[in-house]
Amino acid sequence: MSVVGALPFMKPLYMRSLLSQGRRHTLPASEFRSLSLEDAISVFEIEREAFISVSGECPLYLDEVRHFLSLCPELSLGWFEEGRLVAFIIGSLWDQERLTMDALTLHKPHGNTVHIHVLAVHRTFRHQGKGSILMWRYLQYLRCLPYVRRAVLMCEDFLVPFYQKSGFKVQGPSEITVGPLTFTEMFYHVRGHAFMRRNSGC
Ligand SMILES: CC(C)(COP(=O)(O)OP(=O)(O)OC[C@H]1O[C@@H](n2cnc3c(N)ncnc32)[C@H](O)[C@@H]1OP(=O)(O)O)[C@@H](O)C(=O)NCCC(=O)NCCS
Repeated sequence: MSVVGALPFMKPLYMRSLLSQGRRHTLPASEFRSLSLEDAISVFEIEREAFISVSGECPLYLDEVRHFLSLCPELSLGWFEEGRLVAFIIGSLWDQERLTMDALTLHKPHGNTVHIHVLAVHRTFRHQGKGSILMWRYLQYLRCLPYVRRAVLMCEDFLVPFYQKSGFKVQGPSEITVGPLTFTEMFYHVRGHAFMRRNSGC
């Protein structure tokens, strides 16, 4: 075997260039990026299956998805596999200690709390660790935003252990109800660990 064949990561520059030309039209296997308005339909398709088909309700309807992706796309994160959205988080800023009904529709640009409206994973990709990984990446990303101190979310009781595994703590029962659904409010301290911030690679 030639040296080049044995050490693929040491391919000469001209070969790398040929290889990258060959891949020019191939979509990346895995990509993480903020969502844009063009992603709104894909987001809602996942929500429709994950929530509406189960309870008749969902965290964000299509116009609300568009609303938040227009106002604060930088607080969203999508996981794409070969160009297809497989999981996402949408957040906005909030400026109070606890979530109120207003938090469901408003983005408070001067707030220092990120309200995570929704985390959802496409049906065929669930229970593979993607939800946990995406949340981990999102929280790492939030550490790099100097104005963010906390992340908060509300979830149904059965998902409390899932979010606890990501480092969230229970705040208590939420005052928000949606139809018959009740929620637990949870929070995560993004700021406050100067050592972790210094070493977070921001
Ligand atoms: C909840 C959700 C974001 C988790 O993402 P995920 O990629 O599937 O989660 P992970 O693989 O990282 O972690 C899986 C763990 O989360 C917990 N979990 C996930 N879904 C759960 C559920 N519906 N009930 C209870 N625990 C759940 C379990 O501990 C699970 O472990 P398991 O795979 O050994 O059963 C994802 O399942 C989702 O989008 N679900 C649809 C939304 C939803 O469940 N809505 C509730 C009905 S309205």
